[in-house]
Amino acid sequence: MEKIVIEGGRCLEGTVTVSGAKNAALPMLVSALLVEGWNTFHNVPDLKDIRTIKKLLIDLGAKVETSGSVVKIDAGGLNSHEAPYNLVRTMRASVLVLGPLLARLGRARVSLPGGCAIGARPVNLHLKGLEKLGASISLEHGYIEAQARSLKGAEIYFDIVTVTGSENLMMAAVLAEGVTTLRNAAREPEVVALAEALNLMGAEITGAGTPVITITGVKTLKPASFTIMPDRIETGTFMIAAGVTQGNIKIIGCEPSHLQAVIRKLQQAGITVEQEADGLRVVGTETISSVDIETLPYPGFPTDMQAQFMVLMCLADGLSVITETIFEKRFIHVSELQRMGADVTVTGTTAVVKGGRRLAGAPVMATDLRASASLVLAGLAAEGTTEISRVYHIDRGYESIEKKLAQLGARLWRVPA
Ligand code: UD1
Repeated sequence: MEKIVIEGGRCLEGTVTVSGAKNAALPMLVSALLVEGWNTFHNVPDLKDIRTIKKLLIDLGAKVETSGSVVKIDAGGLNSHEAPYNLVRTMRASVLVLGPLLARLGRARVSLPGGCAIGARPVNLHLKGLEKLGASISLEHGYIEAQARSLKGAEIYFDIVTVTGSENLMMAAVLAEGVTTLRNAAREPEVVALAEALNLMGAEITGAGTPVITITGVKTLKPASFTIMPDRIETGTFMIAAGVTQGNIKIIGCEPSHLQAVIRKLQQAGITVEQEADGLRVVGTETISSVDIETLPYPGFPTDMQAQFMVLMCLADGLSVITETIFEKRFIHVSELQRMGADVTVTGTTAVVKGGRRLAGAPVMATDLRASASLVLAGLAAEGTTEISRVYHIDRGYESIEKKLAQLGARLWRVPA
């Protein structure tokens, strides 16, 4: 195991380039299961979760070749329908293979993802939707067993907006007979990116980016070439890095239109965010204003940015109320931030942050991906040395995080724990 050691208190300045989006790459790489022949994916980030999904695809019989940020996948030799426990356990998004396996092979056996640090995270809506398409589903010995002689288009209403649920159903429906309508579908840019990728393969999907997605089934798909969109959560994390260090960072290769809610809240807090020809310029301020946030499905404020925004609010003047509506246990970073001097009180789904405190470096533990990002930000802002253990969480979703921060002037190292 490794830890990251940060000597805080330095102002970050310079230019940083954002990597491809993990949450767009995962479903897009999985979509290669739907087609025979080589698909090519550009701008794929080198992350632990991406290595996990490639391993799963290889387990299922696909050929996977990687050269830098280019990944090629040919699932012509697909010969297994099982996603085993050891892979699904390390990454819940493995459940995304369910839809494509059913569509291609008529059956799938996928380990049921358990709870995770941020909450129960069931997949009941994925399963309910697949049943609507004609699959029979049972849960046996911790595995989802799904079978369907053929999938048929149907009307599917999601009781809760689910990102991977919408993606799974979209991938199951592209080869189904007839028309499928997904209502109350997720509008996240990653869902739109997957729909565009599937359409490049020959699918007929309309409405992605709205709550109603219509998929007209086609007989077969053809391989194609894709580019993964920039990571909006990595972008937002660097924006907050500028905010908490009174820095001046130019973020290139990002897509500001995907970050409107975050940009608005940062501007209300007094951070300067300006669009320049090739990216975003973010400049911190000495006096940060307190702002309330509530996490919501896109285009609302993303839950994946909540922990990072809390660090900024720890440094703000006054009280900030942070309400988490997506995941029930997503305040586990609070106790670690408190060890660094933060004044945060959690009641149910609400955290009240009393700003105006200096953070002080301390040994802390990363508990999940975005919580670890918040600890890195707190370490950058804090006086003294912060040691973050269990950093494997951050490697799931941030490519070359220490290298990118070091280029901006941060002093940090990765050392054996
Ligand atoms: C995706 C993202 C994750 C992000 C989350 C919310 C990927 C790989 N991960 O996760 O980074 O934090 O969206 O933006 O894209 N739910 C159910 N039943 C279901 C499915 C979901 O009750 O069958 C609930 C969840 O418990 C949660 C809410 O719906 O409360 C939203 O979860 P969902 O959008 O499904 O999250 P993921 O797709 O797992």
